[in-house]
Amino acid sequence: MAKKSVANLTEADLSGKRVFVRVDFNVPLNESGAITDDTRIRAALPTIQYLTGKGAKVILGSHMGRPKGQVVDSMRLTPVAARLSELLGQAVVKCDDCIGEGVAQAIAGLANGQVALLENLRFHAGEEKNDPEFAKQLASNADLYVNDAFGTAHRAHGSTEGVTHYLSPNVAGLLIEKELQFLQGAIEAPKRPLVAIVGGSKVSSKIGVIETLLEKCDKLLIGGGMIFTFYKAQGKAVGASLVEDDKVELAKSLMEKAQGKILLPTDVVVADKFAPDAAAKTVSVDEIPEGWMGLDIGADSVKVFQDALNGCGTAIWNGPMGVFEFDKFAVGTEAIAHSLAGLTATGTVTIIGGGDSVAAVEKVGVAEKMSHISTGGGASLELLEGKELPGIVALDNA
Ligand code: 3PG
Repeated sequence: MAKKSVANLTEADLSGKRVFVRVDFNVPLNESGAITDDTRIRAALPTIQYLTGKGAKVILGSHMGRPKGQVVDSMRLTPVAARLSELLGQAVVKCDDCIGEGVAQAIAGLANGQVALLENLRFHAGEEKNDPEFAKQLASNADLYVNDAFGTAHRAHGSTEGVTHYLSPNVAGLLIEKELQFLQGAIEAPKRPLVAIVGGSKVSSKIGVIETLLEKCDKLLIGGGMIFTFYKAQGKAVGASLVEDDKVELAKSLMEKAQGKILLPTDVVVADKFAPDAAAKTVSVDEIPEGWMGLDIGADSVKVFQDALNGCGTAIWNGPMGVFEFDKFAVGTEAIAHSLAGLTATGTVTIIGGGDSVAAVEKVGVAEKMSHISTGGGASLELLEGKELPGIVALDNA
């Protein structure tokens, strides 16, 4: 069901109005509290600038980390306010809380086109509990609601679902719209052939997405640690590789259901221990030596995957091909990142569906070359699994 968009709100709807915008500014910080990746802040700029440009008073709310209803100083949004002020080229009013008298006063003092950032919503237990009283207090400072927090849209929290009961209209921001256009578009009406690449260490965390993608895609390439559960299901010896024994039967049934759509690597890079300096060699998947563990896909597999990707209309990728945190075992993941970047240039719609695969394309330096990089981890996975996201369901229908 299509949702109302902030883009449909005009200056007459917005000028002088207090707009509560839920954003996902849950950005990584280093030990000294500095932001190490501001992608999520930059991704929210189009919506914020749209609203300020139309004279709205913008009230931003976000969580950071999991403080569990307590004030945790290292999870304050102060560094976010500083970075956002730089990016917007205007001083953002930083509140010390997200509800209460001080916040009401700060918001009452906003001029048209000004932006305020509330403190971490999860400092109040009511946020994650979706407590109506908390949601009502959040809503009391605003006239209307925009949800642009795609990364948190899979959570039914006070600021993502609760507030919509007290504000109107409730519309989608430009980032949420873009995420839905690419991720939902890829599974509902893709440019074909649609090739999906799924990696990661565990079959158990990717079952939902594999099952949905199997129905929708033309080919499914599987990499990462989960391949060994599939090999075990095929009766191969996997040495000391990671295997989920309780998922072997499931892997077998997925392969039967796939009727040849699933492509598994043909060779793997095996290591004598799980460490960045492990001894390593490439072997066929039929010759994994006893005591060695597979930590990456091999060069032949990369070639097989590249051939399968060539000429596809849409490629969607979720999960690394190996232990890419260790440079020695990052080669397969990096090769897939480069292949996808090259495919974008030939007209393939390339979508990176969140989490570790985003980190991988950023590490390789090809993020700018993808059609779309999702800002959601869990949210993009749930969307690809075909689940409804409560933060989106709660918005007004178009
Ligand atoms: C994320 O980083 O995936 C989102 O910000 C959601 O965070 P959460 O998993 O703590 O709800």
